[in-house]
Amino acid sequence: MKQLRVAIDGPAGAGKSTAAKLVAKELALPYIDTGAMYRAVTWKALQLGMSLDEEDKVTELASRLDIAFIANHEQQSVLVDGEIATEQIRSPEVTERVSQVAAIRGVRAEMVKLQQRIANRQGVVMDGRDIGTHVIPDAEVKIFLTASLQERAKRRKLEMENKGIYLSQDELETSIARRDELDSSRDVAPLRQAEDAHLIDTTGQTAAEVAERILGVCKDFLGTNQ
Ligand code: DC
Repeated sequence: MKQLRVAIDGPAGAGKSTAAKLVAKELALPYIDTGAMYRAVTWKALQLGMSLDEEDKVTELASRLDIAFIANHEQQSVLVDGEIATEQIRSPEVTERVSQVAAIRGVRAEMVKLQQRIANRQGVVMDGRDIGTHVIPDAEVKIFLTASLQERAKRRKLEMENKGIYLSQDELETSIARRDELDSSRDVAPLRQAEDAHLIDTTGQTAAEVAERILGVCKDFLGTNQ
């Protein structure tokens, strides 16, 4: 099979990770959640009591942090300096602060270096905000997922409720819109659709339907679409 690198970008709650996991499973490729890497740096910096305004210190932390993904059946665990932090990196506190860390030029340089090292040695399904534009600009398949703000907040609400965290629809819409604004307006590698990315609006679609559409694009590339 030809090497296949699938870059999936889009705003928070567009359904990237659920669809990406299904696509990776179907294609037997590793799945890399790059948002988890920025979350890992944020979590560790907060743990260490660092001020996120101290960009040099946060960058230095990012350069020496050991971030690893361990796939076990349907779940993917995130290890930060050897400690399982899968749940901790998704806490509301980290979610509120991560855009600030992801906007630090030095932190992005460190994370992109790691991401490119992974993508250079194997086929991969990678999701994030700048994968098709900066991390793997020559990816064989580029997808940009969107969905209405209401739907994205509704999905996040359900996801949080499953973890026993109850937030209102309004609160989530405000928080997601704020994060979109920060991620889209930053100077370094802002969230935007690559010119050659396939745009998929996931509003009203299940993750399985979205995954099917992405797989269709992959099969077109591989020349096996009947
Ligand atoms: O996808 P997520 O919510 O886990 O991402 C967490 C944050 O990291 C989000 O605010 C955007 C940022 N991010 C980024 O800037 N670049 C990426 N490739 C992935 C995530």
